[in-house]
Amino acid sequence: MSDIGHNFHSIIIRDAVVQDIETILAIERDSYVDPWGEESFRYLMFQKNGIAIVAAQQFPIGYAFGRVTLDEGELLNLAVSKPYRKRNLGRAILNEFLNRCWKLGANKVYLEVRVKNTAAIQLYRSAGFIIEGRRNKYYQDGEDAFIMKLIKQ
Ligand SMILES: CC(C)(COP(=O)(O)OP(=O)(O)OC[C@H]1O[C@@H](n2cnc3c(N)ncnc32)[C@H](O)[C@@H]1OP(=O)(O)O)[C@@H](O)C(=O)NCCC(=O)NCCS
Repeated sequence: MSDIGHNFHSIIIRDAVVQDIETILAIERDSYVDPWGEESFRYLMFQKNGIAIVAAQQFPIGYAFGRVTLDEGELLNLAVSKPYRKRNLGRAILNEFLNRCWKLGANKVYLEVRVKNTAAIQLYRSAGFIIEGRRNKYYQDGEDAFIMKLIKQ
């Protein structure tokens, strides 16, 4: 569990629990044109190598889900509830996610992001991720994905 600073003293970042799923799903549907369903969140919550964290006050207001396989972390989902965006919460959740990856033995982390998702790409760049490749028509609506990679320093 970590406190993320004086601006957000009532917000903590902690492991996600089943009771969080309803709120997570609401944020998810509001954040993506192709939202994940409940099963994907549940699966990562209970996977041994899964990472499932939320930033929460009384209820979650953001989250990151992913996993570590051998020395490789994967960030599979990161979102912040719309009214809480642009207040460094995405960065705080990402930092906690990365710390969990390093603790679980990763020395690099990969993610995929829509090429037009400027906000997320900027956030990942500011954390040190670089664009490693591009997947053609990766998303159902035909948009390409950048593959981004961060090497542990
Ligand atoms: C991407 C997302 C998680 C960012 O969350 P956030 O809490 O608003 O981000 P932060 O306030 O921590 O911003 C950190 C950095 O990201 C970048 N950033 C965030 N929002 C941005 C925007 N709208 N435009 C450009 N850059 C932006 C900036 O570099 C920012 O740093 P700065 O404030 O010092 O300039 C949020 O926009 C979101 O949930 N989007 C929908 C879901 C999504 O696309 N997830 C990523 C899938 S790969």
